Amino acid sequence: MATSGASYLVTGSMGCIGAWTLYHLVKAGKQAVSFDLSDNRSRLNLLLSPEEQKAITFVKGDLTDVSQVLEVMGRVTHLIHLAALQIPFCKADPALGATVNVVGTVNIFEAARQVGLHHLAYASSLAVYGPPEDYPPGLVTADAPFDPRTLYGVYKQANEGTARIYWQDHQLSSTALRPYTVYGVGRDQGLTSEPTNAMLAAAAGEPFHISFGGRMQFHFASDVARQFIEAAETPLAGAFGFNLGSEPVGVAEVATLINALRPATEITCADSSLPFPEGLASGAYEELLPGVKPTPLVEGIRQTIEHFEACLADGRLTADAIG
Ligand SMILES: NC(=O)c1ccc[n+]([C@@H]2O[C@H](COP(=O)([O-])OP(=O)(O)OC[C@H]3O[C@@H](n4cnc5c(N)ncnc54)[C@H](O)[C@@H]3O)[C@@H](O)[C@H]2O)c1
Repeated sequence: MATSGASYLVTGSMGCIGAWTLYHLVKAGKQAVSFDLSDNRSRLNLLLSPEEQKAITFVKGDLTDVSQVLEVMGRVTHLIHLAALQIPFCKADPALGATVNVVGTVNIFEAARQVGLHHLAYASSLAVYGPPEDYPPGLVTADAPFDPRTLYGVYKQANEGTARIYWQDHQLSSTALRPYTVYGVGRDQGLTSEPTNAMLAAAAGEPFHISFGGRMQFHFASDVARQFIEAAETPLAGAFGFNLGSEPVGVAEVATLINALRPATEITCADSSLPFPEGLASGAYEELLPGVKPTPLVEGIRQTIEHFEACLADGRLTADAIG
């Protein structure tokens, strides 16, 4: 559990989940250290006022630089490692993708070991799994074999292997969370950001077409951030990886929910599914990390549209942001 002297390093903190993680740490009065290659606070500005951001220690740094990682790691007691390049960026530049996602994660584990941290939480992904035809019908079980079909998924699988060896060799425990489609304010890049773009379009009164359909699991970015904080605060004896679970939902159903909440808009989606299973079972996750009760989908969509409307109204966002 967190202690009063606790401080939290968040890598990839200028990203969507990272910004939400800083948000929850600040709101809980916890000491947060932000580490990101980028110093663009545009996502964070949607969540925290400049005054609130003064509680955060900002470090602009590169995960691929061992000395920078080691220096910042020496300042903290808890670690949430989120920095990564997503599917399209790994595909466009595989060597850079491997350097950031794989070598960068090795740097995190090695620095944690060197400064004497005993536990960390980090982001893996549903992309470690193969296409639906690899598995029996229904939810993919928590112990199903990995079979990634993207470089991004291959890199995430490698990271789970790195975690396993650091537990085996050094008893450095870790918890990987594997989100599916994260949605919410700040989700503006990556393959599955389009449902969030549709919510922004609805807030702006614009139509939007989501270029894929099918069924998938949705996770509210605010919840996911809290789940990472809980995972960082709850050492489990081993290198664990968890799917986040939740009921699979059709992308068409999400479009219908958005249209029902904002009838003046027109959100549509394609029929084609993404090459991933429609849902992943969470196994022992809720039992071992029971602290965060996921926000119901309709409530998360409602909050996201209202949050976007507030940002559009006060100028933090413009309709140009619709991807
Ligand atoms: N968003 C999703 O639906 C989803 C789903 C599954 C897994 N994940 C994983 O969760 C994590 C966070 O996702 P997100 O959507 O917030 O990502 P994001 O793309 O919004 O943010 C990633 C952040 O990492 C930073 N970064 C990139 N290279 C860096 C480097 N060399 N050094 C330091 N920082 C660097 C970027 O500047 C960016 O701010 C990632 O590991 C991602 O793979 C996300």
